[in-house]
Amino acid sequence: MPDTTSLSCAVPVFFATSEGQTRRIAERLAAVLHDLGFDSRAIDVAGPDAARLDWTKVQGALVGASLHAGTHQKAADRFVRAHAFDLNAVASAFFSVSLSAASKNQHEVDAAANLARAFPAARGWKPVTIVSVAGRLAYREYGFFIRWVMKRIARKEGAPTDTSRDYELTNWTQVEQLAREMAHRLRTREAVA
Ligand SMILES: Cc1cc2nc3c(=O)[nH]c(=O)nc-3n(C[C@H](O)[C@H](O)[C@H](O)COP(=O)(O)O)c2cc1C
Repeated sequence: MPDTTSLSCAVPVFFATSEGQTRRIAERLAAVLHDLGFDSRAIDVAGPDAARLDWTKVQGALVGASLHAGTHQKAADRFVRAHAFDLNAVASAFFSVSLSAASKNQHEVDAAANLARAFPAARGWKPVTIVSVAGRLAYREYGFFIRWVMKRIARKEGAPTDTSRDYELTNWTQVEQLAREMAHRLRTREAVA
């Protein structure tokens, strides 16, 4: 039987992921927020916890999704459309995870930043912060065809091409900084409320 009791969380970090990196980033954000004294946890946008969240208890929210073939996950699209009103009522941030964010080609970096900005804007959500974060090249997890495609893309973007191992491209300092900025914003809001 699904758990239908409401879930209380002051600063949920929602994520949509295809290969797991956006989940890891969401978990790190929630861990830093927790260490800073906030009730925070990572929540899959498509999972049961997202559906039973009590939005009246939410003070701030982060949402993350990753880029695949130039678009973010449909689950993130559905979630943000359904909750744009709730998200706009609190301090919120969007983080977009991609390979392009780590590109040596500035045009690719800018393109990823533009896609990150376009995602909330097209869904009626106005986050105070939008960041483009580098993800992971998980060569060992891809099937033959995707590995071949990703190697070609990686070569074009100046990323590693040795497919015998995975590459962590995420700047964890940037991720932790995002969590600290959100904590600061929430404390400032509390102080003026
Ligand atoms: C099939 C596939 C398509 C991808 N397409 C893009 C893309 O269009 N642009 C980009 O910057 N990164 C792209 N990536 C890289 C992913 O965004 C990156 O690996 C990210 O860490 C995935 O996050 P996730 O593990 O949370 O799904 C792609 C990766 C895969 C496997």
